[in-house]
Amino acid sequence: MLEWKEEFRIGIDAIDHEHRQLIDLINKTLSLIEAENQTGQNKEEILNHLGEIHAVTSAHFALEEQEMAQIKYPEFAPHKTDHEALLDSLLDIMDETTPEDSTLLRRLEERLTSWFSNHFRTFDAAFHRFGSATN
Ligand SMILES: [Fe+2]
Ligand SMILES: [Fe+2]
Repeated sequence: MLEWKEEFRIGIDAIDHEHRQLIDLINKTLSLIEAENQTGQNKEEILNHLGEIHAVTSAHFALEEQEMAQIKYPEFAPHKTDHEALLDSLLDIMDETTPEDSTLLRRLEERLTSWFSNHFRTFDAAFHRFGSATN
């Protein structure tokens, strides 16, 4: 499970709020997938859950990218590239999902947990430092 940590706070209320919402959604979804794994997987359901994570995450990235563009953030391109890498791997995981796949949950959890905790601490925190320094 992905756990909210104080060190993830970047100090922009709207973004911190969305980060917490994302963590909640991801944890809720992982539990649902786990429950479905135990009762026999329903591919359709799992794809719906993954699709929701993808949609909410890409809406969040769009907000962040809009703010970065607004303040002419010089590290915009690599930050956006990191966002796209996560969205691509979510799509890959969706493509690879089969009803028999017992490793899906673990792969999804590993990818999301490591990506988000790294990204919050590095890219998002750097964006906030730049924004505070130029204000
Ligand atoms: Fe973010
Ligand atoms: Fe970001």
